[in-house]
Amino acid sequence: MNKKLYIETYGCQMNVSDTEVIFAILAREGYTRTEEMEQADVILINTCSVRDNAEQRIWGRLEQFGALRKKNEGLVVGIVGCMAERLKDSLLESRKVDLVAGPDTYRSLPAMLRDIRPGAPQIDVRLSRDETYEDITPVRIDRNGVSAFISIMRGCNNVCSYCVVPYTRGAERSRNAHTIVREACDVFHKGYKEVTLLGQNVDSYFWKGPEGDVNFAGLLAMVAEISPELRVRYSTSHPKDISDEVIAVMAAHENICRHIHLPVQSGSDAMLEKMRRRYDRAWYLDRVAKIREAMPDCSITTDIIAGFCGETLQDHQDTLDIMRKVGYDYAFMFQYSERPGTLAARHYPDDIPPAEKTRRLNEIIALQNTLSLESNRRDIGKEWKVLVEGDSRRDPGQLCGRASNNKMCVFDKPKQGAALRPGDYVRVRVLSCTSATLICELI
Ligand code: 5AD
Ligand code: SF4
Repeated sequence: MNKKLYIETYGCQMNVSDTEVIFAILAREGYTRTEEMEQADVILINTCSVRDNAEQRIWGRLEQFGALRKKNEGLVVGIVGCMAERLKDSLLESRKVDLVAGPDTYRSLPAMLRDIRPGAPQIDVRLSRDETYEDITPVRIDRNGVSAFISIMRGCNNVCSYCVVPYTRGAERSRNAHTIVREACDVFHKGYKEVTLLGQNVDSYFWKGPEGDVNFAGLLAMVAEISPELRVRYSTSHPKDISDEVIAVMAAHENICRHIHLPVQSGSDAMLEKMRRRYDRAWYLDRVAKIREAMPDCSITTDIIAGFCGETLQDHQDTLDIMRKVGYDYAFMFQYSERPGTLAARHYPDDIPPAEKTRRLNEIIALQNTLSLESNRRDIGKEWKVLVEGDSRRDPGQLCGRASNNKMCVFDKPKQGAALRPGDYVRVRVLSCTSATLICELI
């Protein structure tokens, strides 16, 4: 059998990593990957439920695939991932899909695909307590061959009141540390120079091994010690859990990148309490101070939600204030979107009018643009190591790559000597910047 498989991925990095697991599971069954959906025998959409607009986009996409299904009767269209978990029944009732598979059921995809018959769609959305896909070697779908995602845990045990993830991805479980280290070694030997360890809340990683327990700090050290030439990144930290030990392990390893994604969500204690984040402003600012003390060059990025239930103008000001105090290097910023079934949906009215949410979000975005620009300006004149990722998108005469602090750097290709390739490390000096990019020269 040679069936062609096309997968479209939405949502977080974890979903990209899951798509790589799905490709691996189906490759064993003879499926080959295609990037042309018109040529596919099977189309899977790996979905996200985190905000309503993410789900609306996917419903729109299903309409488009409907047209393809009319042209090609044998075409299978499936929904996998978070939205499959959340909307199983309405997806089946829509008659737009032949398969619905939740995030813990990817091992049954071959059997489900085999059993699809006209009028008999396949569904499996059972969540598991122990599935981590630890023995599966993902088929990497990145283009540059430089940077790989490695999933270290699945699910989430926090119950942030706005968040659908605990319901779509189930309970938290950590993957065997040795299989993580083996996968990191394997990608390094294949030429990758950077791994990003992924989990919803990496700080609560905990694996009980025969030779002793491994926590996240221990895991980070194990991966970092594979080679000084292998960069290590991770995402996402939870401010309530990020430990002094993790910060110390980062500081002690030059190849653990100087970047922490530390979602604050709000700068108001009242909102943080309602969001059930289990930290307050003072605690958060103390963690930031600790990070800065150990690693003055560490960039800090965040996620922010504007217009959560009952958010007053003062709460909103508190968010702007904490953004200024921390001076974030970058932020992902969202309007609150009520998710059915969450604690917030059950207990608090979604009472900030949409136009006001947008106004607050725009204020947050405008401030972050200023902060990003200020942060980049502070870097002018600095010299640092960059991992080349490839040609710059804007100018084929330039290369791009990231500094340890995750900032994107662009610089002219060398005029003489050997050409630089993706995966090479170079030293650059920062000459100027925009709010998104550092313009550098090779030194
Ligand atoms: N509405 C808006 N943003 C949300 N996020 C999670 N749930 C919601 C929601 N219901 C944001 C948070 C989280 C990021 C992945 O998505 O900021 O950190
Ligand atoms: Fe979206 Fe969250 Fe699921 Fe990732 S875990 S796909 S962000 S809902």
